[in-house]
Amino acid sequence: MAEMLALYGSPRRKGNTALLLKKAVEGAVEAGAEVEEIVLRDLEISPCLEIYACKKDGRCVIQDDFQAVYDKVLACQGLMLASPIFFYAVSAHTKALMERFQSLWVKKHWIDKIPYGKREATKKGLFISVGATKGKRLFEGALLTVRSFFEVLDMELWRSLLYRSLDFKGDVLQYPSYLEEAYTAGKELVELIRG
Ligand SMILES: Cc1cc2nc3c(=O)[nH]c(=O)nc-3n(C[C@H](O)[C@H](O)[C@H](O)COP(=O)(O)O)c2cc1C
Repeated sequence: MAEMLALYGSPRRKGNTALLLKKAVEGAVEAGAEVEEIVLRDLEISPCLEIYACKKDGRCVIQDDFQAVYDKVLACQGLMLASPIFFYAVSAHTKALMERFQSLWVKKHWIDKIPYGKREATKKGLFISVGATKGKRLFEGALLTVRSFFEVLDMELWRSLLYRSLDFKGDVLQYPSYLEEAYTAGKELVELIRG
């Protein structure tokens, strides 16, 4: 399993978040990491169906592509997650994956009885997001969701790269400084993890 995982959460191939995440991956590779890239839109991942069969042993019982992604997410030391803002939230592909980690939440808090907020964050995460508009609160919903997801993973939200006013495919290419920031973040994240 790879030390670093990159999750592409947009349904749009080579869209703005995908171009930014690709740069972060390049930075991480430059720093010497092995990075596995997963494009969520290529996978079959159901949202949580709230059957709570995970209460038995903490594993989700729905047999789809989540099972492989789950193991990879648990095994990585650093996670780079990219999602566009859809209706002030993360994309449905990203959210479906997150919901399935309720099985891990059940394991931690119901089966292993770990009190909330008591586990130290041992892993680091980078979140990349873009939206078309400019509002001050554009990323608030997504950030709450990502923080809560990362907490389940015992992961600190180490850095967020959030860019406004990007809408059409390739818009981000007009901002080389954003792509440079993403590259640097990927590199620094690996340096930190190995540090
Ligand atoms: C279903 C949908 C919902 C969207 N909702 C918002 C929104 O709430 N706020 C916003 O600023 N942009 C919104 N957008 C615009 C996207 O965030 C924007 O096009 C972004 O650049 C897409 O990123 P991508 O190229 O990585 O897919 C929405 C786009 C779609 C398709």
